[in-house]
Amino acid sequence: MDALTGLPEATVIRDLESMEPFLRDESHVRGTLPLAVVKPRGPAALKELVRRAKAEGFGLVPRGAGTGKAGGCVPTERTVVVDLSAWPGELRVSPQDLCLSAPASALLRDVKAAAEGHRLFYPPDPNSWESCALGGTLATNAGGPNACKYGMTRHWVLSVDALLEDGAVHSFGISSVKNNAGPNLGQLLIGSEGIFGFILGATVRLLPQPREFCTLLLPVKRWADLLELPGQLCAAGYLPSAFEFFDPAVLAELRAHGPEEARRLPGEALAILEFDERGCTSEAFLAGLLDLLGPLADGLEVASDERQRQGIWAVRRLTSAFLKERHPRKVSEDIVVPRSRLGEFFAGLERLDIPSVSYGHLGDGNLHVNLLAAGETEPALLDQQLMDLFRLALRLGGTLSGEHGIGIAKRDAFLALSDPAHIQVLRRLKQALDPCGIFNPGKVI
Ligand code: MLT
Ligand code: ZN
Repeated sequence: MDALTGLPEATVIRDLESMEPFLRDESHVRGTLPLAVVKPRGPAALKELVRRAKAEGFGLVPRGAGTGKAGGCVPTERTVVVDLSAWPGELRVSPQDLCLSAPASALLRDVKAAAEGHRLFYPPDPNSWESCALGGTLATNAGGPNACKYGMTRHWVLSVDALLEDGAVHSFGISSVKNNAGPNLGQLLIGSEGIFGFILGATVRLLPQPREFCTLLLPVKRWADLLELPGQLCAAGYLPSAFEFFDPAVLAELRAHGPEEARRLPGEALAILEFDERGCTSEAFLAGLLDLLGPLADGLEVASDERQRQGIWAVRRLTSAFLKERHPRKVSEDIVVPRSRLGEFFAGLERLDIPSVSYGHLGDGNLHVNLLAAGETEPALLDQQLMDLFRLALRLGGTLSGEHGIGIAKRDAFLALSDPAHIQVLRRLKQALDPCGIFNPGKVI
């Protein structure tokens, strides 16, 4: 007999080989061996898990599809991984209410497809959208290219079902955007990385599907000019639905070692811009845009059909996986700086002399600075480089994570660099919502 014997409505995995994949997510961190991995199939399993976790003093670590980038779902000392990939529930679209309900286990690609089946649109699009689970995107408040126009996952959440420390599942929110009955506890859970409770399902807001796309591949003559463009576009009244970039260093890496389509990439630096408003495929729209883009461009490709559009996006979508395959021990950051300070940021990064390549979401200032040689760098030096990077972002009015979250990977830096009052408030909330400290211990705070 042990702490997990006879757990109802659940599969319990304990053999080392089967638990091995649960030690990692898609970040550079590795967890410690858990006591077990449990796949709950109903509320009785969760109720009992919470009861036993409190009685026996072990922690519970939530896991969706394991595609996180900050070690939020990897096990820490004396924990049980709660794998929610088989959590039951139905995916339901309500076109009248412009919303969709789904369990945490639903894959984001199925959520987006279900909305599309009704000509509706669920905007969040993290790079892992084809393999990540909805629950993980809620727990980490996932971003993606579309956040530039549509905001992060939290902007789309109307209500949340969550396991709390009493062992029961509670609902917060209603299926309407208007809900002002007191502070929004559902939103407190979004992006909390499972430290206050576990998200088991949600109702999210939808929009009518965009029908037109203007997608451009913009190679630029001068990298420095590209850094001015996000602010210039906004000031001129344009709001792209995505504005992605590749800096000269990542372009060199892609050209030298990337797949066939990456080897031909032009420009000193490169951007992908997409607009999705009505009329964006008109000649007048394009002419106005070209007035702004023309002077910077070193050739410009405008997708004329969906095949070309997908071709432009393909290289961007594979960049993260390509770099990871070539540099398995790389560290990928996701700092943010305000659009108006991008030039200052890259000048500062050059002064810091941190060997890195950058790509990501230029339109909202969310930059994936990748330290490709992290695995070969002396740990104290690597820590120093990361702290310098975070300090630079903070000094410019930004933050150390725009979309991946804190998890374990950035916990020390988050604690060291945040306003102590901020950490204090988070710890008080943790104490109030999880007094026994069973939910995702050792993460965030
Ligand atoms: C992306 O936008 O490609 C991912 O969020 C970045 C990453 O893998 O670090
Ligand atoms: Zn990203």
